[in-house]
Amino acid sequence: MEITELQLPYSAADRGWLRYEPRDSLQGLPVWSRIFVSEWSDTVEAAVRELRYGIREMSGQSPDIVVGGESLAQGAFIRCATVRESLPNELHSDLPLQDLNEEGYLLKHVADKENGGCLYIVGRTDKGILYGAFHLLRLLQMEVPAERIDLVENPRNPLRMMNHWDNMDGSIERGYAGRSIFFKDQRLIEDDGRIRDYARLMASIGINGISINNVNVHEAETRLITAEYLPQVARVAGIFSAHGIRLFLSINYASPMQLGGLATADPLDSGVRQWWKEKAEEIYRYIPDFGGFVVKADSEHRPGPFTYNRTHADGSNMLAEALAPYGGVVIWRCFVYNCMQDWRDRATDRARAAYDHFKPLDGQFRDNVILQIKNGPMDFQVREAVSPLLGAMPQTNQMLEFQITQEYTGQQKHLCYLVPQWKDVLDFDTYARGEGSTIQRVASGELYDYKHCGITAVINVGDDENWTGHTLAQANLYGYGRLAWNPDLSEAEITEEWIKQTFGTHAAVVEQLTTMLAESWRIYENYTSPLGVGWMVNPGHHYGPNVDGYEYSVWGTYHFADCHGMGVNRTVKDGTGYTGQYFAENAERYESLDSCPDELLLFFHHVPYTHRLHSGKTVIQHIYDSHFEGADGVEALIERWRLLEGLVDPKRHEAVMGRLRHQAEHSKEWRDIINTYFYRKSGIGDELKRMIY
Ligand code: GCU
Repeated sequence: MEITELQLPYSAADRGWLRYEPRDSLQGLPVWSRIFVSEWSDTVEAAVRELRYGIREMSGQSPDIVVGGESLAQGAFIRCATVRESLPNELHSDLPLQDLNEEGYLLKHVADKENGGCLYIVGRTDKGILYGAFHLLRLLQMEVPAERIDLVENPRNPLRMMNHWDNMDGSIERGYAGRSIFFKDQRLIEDDGRIRDYARLMASIGINGISINNVNVHEAETRLITAEYLPQVARVAGIFSAHGIRLFLSINYASPMQLGGLATADPLDSGVRQWWKEKAEEIYRYIPDFGGFVVKADSEHRPGPFTYNRTHADGSNMLAEALAPYGGVVIWRCFVYNCMQDWRDRATDRARAAYDHFKPLDGQFRDNVILQIKNGPMDFQVREAVSPLLGAMPQTNQMLEFQITQEYTGQQKHLCYLVPQWKDVLDFDTYARGEGSTIQRVASGELYDYKHCGITAVINVGDDENWTGHTLAQANLYGYGRLAWNPDLSEAEITEEWIKQTFGTHAAVVEQLTTMLAESWRIYENYTSPLGVGWMVNPGHHYGPNVDGYEYSVWGTYHFADCHGMGVNRTVKDGTGYTGQYFAENAERYESLDSCPDELLLFFHHVPYTHRLHSGKTVIQHIYDSHFEGADGVEALIERWRLLEGLVDPKRHEAVMGRLRHQAEHSKEWRDIINTYFYRKSGIGDELKRMIY
């Protein structure tokens, strides 16, 4: 069988990092004349379709696809195979094909005198072939010489997920890149070109699970698990499936009442349990590889087991029991806290809540329940401590939740590359089982041998032409996926990969963009809330400075600034006791003012403005200096980007420049409001006598 017509891309959207611009290294050379595959499947088709398209775009030559034929060819070829097939000795001899897991692959160039170089992509399964194909294309885009390719890869995290916060009316909660790519007018979008391109982007970074609707499940979305919508959902699931991705849905805990007309959603009620069992059976009839449920329960006014005096273990186990026969999992979020706090109540500490709720339940969850835990105990701030719940439950599956969508980090109008923040979290040592008990080993299941685990993130994608609003925010999307695949990749490696694929290999482009991305998180932190205290944003939409925006609110998010000092005392000694939730090494480090790191000082301690940081500066002088530096930093970003005029296509260059200019203005607003606020509170002037109002 010879396959000819395979058109890509499917939509007119920006190609992201799957750009495949012509590459000098591939021009004029005889590249691969054929791509051989033995068995055809939707996933193999996705792999070879991409390979042929990418190679054609980059080299100008289009390989034929040959299915089931002998890989004897005139000239070099690519062969995609699974380990079940008979393969040349070179592949078996020195490479551990047996060590490939279900998603792993081998990529190897084998020199062949008659045919020239041949490239083998060998997976244990079709999914490995798909990931291997994308890896090969990445290397070619980066101009790595084919003859040097010789590698074996297995993903470190079993689950590598994306959470959409999309609503069926097409809006996206905390979305900054247009409307939903899945939903419009209470229906699933029929033209699925965009969804197909999205699935390619996700597969290229190894994402294998996607929940398509908001964790806040409103009335319309509650019905996604009914016969009215399941056929439409199944269509999307089919597209995902071909790209190695299982579809998940966020569900409404009260569905048995809202959909089934039952009088209760009590997890111990036999009628409720039966309802969910039948529901699961129905869902799997439409979507045989359905991933499972994502559940936000008893959190920010969402229904949950607390209504019936039941625990989170009772609630999640009931759903897990229903999904178990089909291999589904329940992803139960731990974002549970009192969102009706009285600001005068100084004893309640929101940061404590997840640990206090869930830690006592360790060991009570079924083995197909996974607790999904945000990276910090508050809510995706520019800087906060790592959640002490991560690693604290040896007998309960856990997964880590990041936020790619920039809710608190500039809403994709500001440049804020989050890979460095995520690296810090992944490398954080919990000391749960002694030194080296890092968060990445908790999430990957290496620390406690979890049955299900991994990483998920709230995605930053919408229907804007460039997917992410700010073109450079694509780097966060890409970087997250790469870290979920391999948390040991360095920031530098990820950044280089993304830039070369997205903007080409020109040295100046790589140099300037690398610096811009590397510095952007610190720049953003500098002009926003200081020293780990967080918030200081406008309530509701969370954009722009408002120091007291959340100070007298119900949300448990306070900085406690007065004329003497500021910060939250979370010590065991005379604070909320939160530091005691960490394992000893970290508990001691955070408890003591001497060892608490500067960048988290106000997260853990309430100190006078005159308190001296390890940096040698007082807190108040640090606030002034960092805010002036932050706003200057944005001007420096603009200067760097200006150098790339003519090296980046005008459309993307202008679009990014427009956002940077807005960021520059807005960072000055931040700077001046924060500096003025603390000058007026403290009465202490800037040592350098700069302009403060
Ligand atoms: C944040 C965010 C909400 C979201 C919530 C969650 O509080 O502002 O929009 O629903 O997180 O993670 O559930």
